[in-house]
Order: sequence, then C-alpha cells, then structure tokens
Amino acid sequence: MKADIVYKYVLAWAAIVLNTRYNSTGTAAYVDLFSGPGSYDDGARSTPLLIAEAVLKKPQLVQGLQMFFNDINPSLTNSLRQEISGLAGAITLRHAPRYSSLPATIRLIDSLGLSLDVPQFYFLDQFGWADITPDLVRRIFKNRKCDCAFFLRTPRVIAAVSNPNSRDAMVTLFGDTGLESLRQSFRDRPREKEIVVLEHLKEAMRLAGAPYFQPFPFRLGDGNSPKQHLIYLGKHSKGLEVMKDVMDRSSTMHHDGVPQMGYTEGPVQHGLFNPDPIPGLQSELLTFFAGRTATVGEIFEEHHVTNECFLLRNYQEALRRLEAAACVKTTPCLFERPTRNGIVTMSELVTVTFPQEGRTS
Ligand SMILES: C[S@@+](CC[C@H](N)C(=O)[O-])C[C@H]1O[C@@H](n2cnc3c(N)ncnc32)[C@H](O)[C@@H]1O
Repeated sequence: MKADIVYKYVLAWAAIVLNTRYNSTGTAAYVDLFSGPGSYDDGARSTPLLIAEAVLKKPQLVQGLQMFFNDINPSLTNSLRQEISGLAGAITLRHAPRYSSLPATIRLIDSLGLSLDVPQFYFLDQFGWADITPDLVRRIFKNRKCDCAFFLRTPRVIAAVSNPNSRDAMVTLFGDTGLESLRQSFRDRPREKEIVVLEHLKEAMRLAGAPYFQPFPFRLGDGNSPKQHLIYLGKHSKGLEVMKDVMDRSSTMHHDGVPQMGYTEGPVQHGLFNPDPIPGLQSELLTFFAGRTATVGEIFEEHHVTNECFLLRNYQEALRRLEAAACVKTTPCLFERPTRNGIVTMSELVTVTFPQEGRTS
C-alpha cells in the first residue's frame, strides 16, 4: 500500500519532469535514502526494486532517470544492488544506479553532486523519524524542483511528545517553541492529538522550505492497528496535483467525487449522512477569485494548493454549478461548449469571470 503510492507517484512525476519542454538538463533523480533490501524474506519486493523494474519498462525513464539508493546496512544495499542488476534490461539504463551504505545526512546528499536544477524526488522511509529532520528537509528543498515523501508512525510521535526521554528528538523535529506549543495544544485539544501533530509538523516543514504538505492516513490490518501517515512535501503545484491524483486512486472513500484522502484495510464504516463538499468549494472560489477573470486551469493551479482533497474534476464541477446558477460568466459559454456523457464540459481553457465579492454576476 505505502509502496504503491510512492511507486505510482515516481513514475508519473518522472514522465512529467523529464519532458524536454520543462527540463533543459535532460535528467531527473530518484533518491532513496533508506532504501532497504531488494526483496524481503516473505518474497515481497521493496519499493526501490518495484520502481527500478517499472523504470526499465519506460524508454524515457531508462534514458533520463538517475537512481540513488542508500541504506545504512550494507547487506541490504548489496541485496538491492544484486536484484536490480539481475533485472532484464538493467544494462540499458543510461545512468547506472548508484548505491551507498551511509547514514542519511546532508553530507550524503551533497556528495551525490546533483545540480540544483535537476528535478529530484527523495523517499525517506526510516522506521522512526530520528534522521528526518527539518535541516535535512531544508537541504532537499534548496533544489529548485524537488519534492519528497516520508512515513510518519504518528502514534509514536504522539507518545514521544509527552515523553521526557524523547525531548531532544522532538526539539529537533519541532523546535523549542514548536514543542511547547504542541504540548499546550495537547492539553487544550486532548482528543485531537493526531491533527495537532500534523499541524505542527506542517508548520515545521514550511519553515524548512517545503510549502506544500499533503498527509495520507492509512491503517493496515484490522481496525485496531495504529494509524500511520504518508507525508508528501512539495514546492510546485503540479507535483502536488500528481500526488493528490495518486492518493485519490488509493483512497477508500469518496463523497460526490471528492476523495476523503486515506486508506483503511478491511470493512469501512460509511457515515449515514455525508454532506456534499462541492458547495463549500463554490463559496470559497467566489471569495478567493472575487472580481477576477482566469481560466479553469489557472483557477485550479492557484487554489488547489490551499486544500488537501479537491482535484481538478471537483473544481470543474464547482464551476459548472456556479455557471448554472449564473454566479459566474464563462467564455465560451455553456451553450458553445460540447457535452460529454450528457454533461457540459468545463475544459481547463474555459475563462471564468467572478463577480466582485457580495455581488452576483
Ligand atoms: C522501513 S525500511 C525501508 C523500506 C523500503 N523503503 C521499502 O519500501 O521496502 C528502513 C531502512 O532504513 C535503514 N536505516 C535506518 N536508519 C538509517 C540511517 N540513519 N541512514 C540510512 N539508512 C537507515 C534501515 O537499515 C532500513 O533498511
């Protein structure tokens, strides 16, 4: 499950960033600082092995993607190296994968010698969080086009916040003031500790240079197993869009086409009444874009980074409803656009004019 999201994201991301229209360097880098082995004892393949296999099936990636694998345990790095070099076509990779067995540090990232202009994706899948520090994230986000994903064993962080023995690790993660604020919020909102941790982590990552923070909660096994989060950090609207699309497809529940981001294994309890989320988006758009004219694509690009769940199709639906209620003006208008499956299309090129705040168009 966790491998699935990262794997799908890396393939979609690499295809976009290797497009010569956006990338003059001709390369992109996948950097896995905690890569683990090739396969596990039960035969399951690790995320890096799955990614390497998929890369070999795509000529564009065979030509352009550089892969760096690191694990502090040399026997795991060796197992991964052997399995990747045994894959059919491994020899065709234009950039031979590079392997190291070092602690994941800023110095290790520097030693890769990647230009700040090369698009880079970092996968940080440590068992704990000790080495995934704001400083490491700050170094990653020095790159012009970069993003990363890591796993948060959220219940362990919640426990560590109140544990005096974990104070140093928590100060490193949240800073002195951040940790104090976190503890105060635990006292004020004792039933919302998970949300509080995510809010504080988001702020710590923003201060470290990562403006976009997209959490994906998941629970494997029975309903009693602990909830964990895959956290995506990005700095470009397009990367966030791709990750939201992947998370949408992995989500267990949707309400009126809007994903409730998250995955639960086993039976899911559906609420009896889930309000339609689209009207809320309609009101937000009327306020946010009051008095402005923009294309559907521009509206989406500018606004979707402000929320964790709405996708392009949700914006198209919200704008279609605003148009039908004569709350916005569109060019081409409703009657000039084609229909698909009985619904008028709302392509990214349609221009939308919003009324000044408080007025209808
Ligand atoms: C959760 S596993 C990686 C699993 C792998 N990403 C996958 O999806 O199959 C975490 C790995 O991090 C390695 N590790 C732990 N601390 C490390 C550190 N400080 N630097 C580099 N590797 C580390 C461990 O040896 C372990 O193999």
